[in-house]
Formats: sequence, structure tokens, C-alpha cells
Amino acid sequence: MKVHVYKDAETAGKAAGLLFAAQIIRKPASVLGFATGSTPLPAYQTLVNLYEAGVLDFSNIRTFNLDEYAGIDRSHSQSYYRFMFDNLFSKVNIPPESVRVPNPAATSLEAECAEYDAAIDAAGGIDLQILGIGNNGHIAFNEPGSFPFGTHIVELTPSTIEANKRFFDSADDVPRKAISMGIGSIMKAREIVMLITGANKAPAAAAMINGPVDSACPASILQMHPNVTVLLDSAAAAML
Ligand code: GLP
Repeated sequence: MKVHVYKDAETAGKAAGLLFAAQIIRKPASVLGFATGSTPLPAYQTLVNLYEAGVLDFSNIRTFNLDEYAGIDRSHSQSYYRFMFDNLFSKVNIPPESVRVPNPAATSLEAECAEYDAAIDAAGGIDLQILGIGNNGHIAFNEPGSFPFGTHIVELTPSTIEANKRFFDSADDVPRKAISMGIGSIMKAREIVMLITGANKAPAAAAMINGPVDSACPASILQMHPNVTVLLDSAAAAML
């Protein structure tokens, strides 16, 4: 893993955005893997700024998102589909049909999971994937305890429900289930950028980078990937 520490979250996020910008410039028909959460917002804003400045063209880009809540509609203010349109897709020239987020309204969620992995493979695989990390070391919604291979349905842990309740009226309103790309689906990406910011992420960052490869910290599997760049702010790097 390559590890870079920046002074603050904004700067680390900009660096992540610039790595994605370079990918788009090098390969205008890239397949990009996107993540939700607060962490990647400065990266997405960097991409929007570069698009507005005429540096980037998204017309041939295809994207896959890591995960989506089950049980809420895509129009829900906290759906990850809506998050991506609000923060990136509606602000650049990506054709709406080129973006894919797991669909919680599919008639069969199991079939949606299988189709999702097949669609990534059919697109040629993900060239560059951005990841955030949960306080408990999860990536996407792969919670501690196992390394599931493909896209699957997950039960969120109490820790994740607690962490994500800030976006909902109360913890009771946080969906209990989600559809998530698996660890195998993520590890198949040719290149990964992991962005970690904030003091609350310092223990997870240390476990991921310096701990054993163990499903107790699902992100630790990234030690086995040949092309991972970890970008942290100084607060998240405090325990390295
Ligand atoms: C959610 C998402 C993850 C994300 C994590 C951290 O659980 N499923 O993909 O990495 O939140 O979010 P944040 O960046 O807001 O801390």
C-alpha cells in the first residue's frame, strides 16, 4: 500500500479527486467505482470543479457504486443513488444510463446482486475504485466477521446504524439492510484509492494498514491488493 498523509480532510479529498481526474484524462472511457459518505465529498467537488473548468469529460465514463440501502426508495433523501446525483452525477456530463447503483426496488434482490457483478464484468471491470472506511473497519457495507465474495444483501451492524443515524431523523429510521458489493468484487478493481479522514477513523486506519489481514477489520484485505493508495488526513493518521 502507498500511504500519503495530508494536513486536513479537504486536502486529502482533493488528492483523491486528482487521482480520479488523471484516470479520466488517461482513459476517457474508464469504469469508475464510487462510494458514498461524507469522506469523498471533497473528491467529488474537485471533479466537478475540473469539469466546469473544461478539464474533464465524463461522456464516456461508466460508474458503479459500492452499495445502497434496501427498503428505501431512490427518491429518499438518504438513498445513495440520490446522493451520487446530488453531489456528482447531476453536475457533470455523465449520461444517466452510464451510472449504476444497486437497485433496492428490484423484484428480486438476489437477482439484482448477481446482475450487478455480471454488469461490472461486462463493462470490463472497474479501473479505479474509491473507498471510505467505517468506524468498525467496514468497506462498502461489508461488516466485520467475514469476507463475502460477490455483491450480496447485508444486515447492518449496530455500530454502522449508530454511525449513519446522523443522516436520518433517528436511529430507528436507518434501514437495517443494504445491498453491497462484496470484498471480492472490490478486490477485482484494478486500482483502489482509500480515503480516510477524521480522528474517529484513526483506529480503523491503523488496523487496516498495520494490523493483520483479518475479517475483524474487513478493510485489512486491501493489504493483499497490488495497487492501493491510502490518502489520510493527519487526524486519521494519528495511530499509524
Ligand atoms: C457507509 C458506506 C461506506 C462508507 C462509510 C463511511 O457505511 N457504506 O461506503 O465508507 O459509510 O462513511 P463516512 O465517509 O461518512 O464516514
